[in-house]
Amino acid sequence: MGNPTAVSSSKSLHHFIFILIASLVLVSFFNNGAAAADRKLLASESHEFHTIKLSSILPGSVCDSSSQGHKLPSPSSLKVVHKHGPCHKTKESSLPSASELLATDESRVKSINSRISFSAARNTFASTDSVRLPAKSGSSLGAGNYLVQVGLGTPKKDLSLIFDTGSDLTWTQCEPCARSCYDQAEPIFDPSKSSAYSNVSCGTPACNQLKSATGNSPGCNTNTCVYGIQYGDQSFSVGFFGKDTLTLTPTDVVPNFFFGCGQNNQGLFGQTAGLIGLARDPLSIVQQTSKQYGQVFSYCLPSRSSETGSLTFGQSYVSKAVKYTPFSSSQGTTFYFIDVLAMFVGGQKLQISPTVFSTAGSIIDSGTVITRLPPAAYTALRDAFRKQMTSYPMGKPVSILDTCYDFSKYNTVKIPTISIIFGGNTKIDIDGSGILYAVSSSQVCLAFAPNSDASDVLIYGNVQQKTMQVVYDVAGNKLGFGAKGCL
Ligand SMILES: *[C@@H]1O[C@H](CO)[C@@H](O)[C@H](O)[C@H]1NC(C)=O
Repeated sequence: MGNPTAVSSSKSLHHFIFILIASLVLVSFFNNGAAAADRKLLASESHEFHTIKLSSILPGSVCDSSSQGHKLPSPSSLKVVHKHGPCHKTKESSLPSASELLATDESRVKSINSRISFSAARNTFASTDSVRLPAKSGSSLGAGNYLVQVGLGTPKKDLSLIFDTGSDLTWTQCEPCARSCYDQAEPIFDPSKSSAYSNVSCGTPACNQLKSATGNSPGCNTNTCVYGIQYGDQSFSVGFFGKDTLTLTPTDVVPNFFFGCGQNNQGLFGQTAGLIGLARDPLSIVQQTSKQYGQVFSYCLPSRSSETGSLTFGQSYVSKAVKYTPFSSSQGTTFYFIDVLAMFVGGQKLQISPTVFSTAGSIIDSGTVITRLPPAAYTALRDAFRKQMTSYPMGKPVSILDTCYDFSKYNTVKIPTISIIFGGNTKIDIDGSGILYAVSSSQVCLAFAPNSDASDVLIYGNVQQKTMQVVYDVAGNKLGFGAKGCL
């Protein structure tokens, strides 16, 4: 409100705000996250099935960082916690229900698909002006689910930021919050108290890069570059584009890091201070730190939201046992495309024509919860899974999940293994914690869903990435998976 400095006088900012407000259709206060699918394996496993202890399926209510949090893989690793888990300070009352989470996940998937088809269309028609595309087509994306704490400024201030491989720009809420800031756990960053902060000027290469990093042309206010970004779950951030020192760990310091200093922020970012963009654009942290870390990062997402994982920049701590699949040629500059060739359930290959996968292509995403498959692939997977689960009573479907079981009378359950063959014939066995999504003991669901259209992209989501070391070697043009990445 009060501060007249800023943001309000710029015409292009009015334009932003108009667009942002226009995009706030049917406000739905859903939050994007994956609270539930938590489970631990018993020792016994085979190629055909996992034996899962039921007490470990449901979300824990106490943060358990003892097993994993103290054993980060390297001194350069950041601790990863779930946005809605007990390791991050959230208000109980603001925790979304399973169907709200899944609805938000669905809106993220929709915006990913519209962004991809938008950039594909843009490439196709780049040489002609005869086709006008809707200006705002799908430039939005729901915020992710996992966060890390980093230091910003000089002296550094600690901030918890969601990390997202489907976003490019890094931003945080900034004082004086000229328009609005939402509630966050740590004090809001104040650039006037940082000796190394400076505004980015209009017309500079970094400012111009915002167009591809956010999908919106930058604005300009008294020669300061203004960014605006909106997400598919009706969240947004608008503010000054600045640079300052980013401290990842005591030994990993990035000077002159470009980020958005948000003066007008809204949405349910779950008490976090903003977002770290890990996608492919030159403004993403991966590209801004390419000299330091060689365009390589890896993470491990914990099996339960009450446990912690890790995010590590650089090559040096990547396990030798990691298996790689090449990134496939990208459409657009944001997402990480890969190839999926085939799937196995309970050790048996599903009969799916390879063109089912190649039609729309595939991406991996840290911010989508449930893996989305082409309809024909989903049907084959679901039928095979159900066939091997006939001894269990079915439960009520929830939202996009149609294959749920009532496990309330069981202590352990046996579920078929699921494996994926990626490009280069790299076979990855999904961890037992990455197959089911538990709403309650009487509603434990197969954590896959069909796309609504055969031309929508396959999205390899974060439930299916749990406990693996997932390595994005952008310089080497390959994606890696290693077992037991959370140690
Ligand atoms: C950045 O630019 C804005 C708008 O011109 C101004 O209000 C703010 O004081 C500037 N910050 C610094 C540190 O120069």
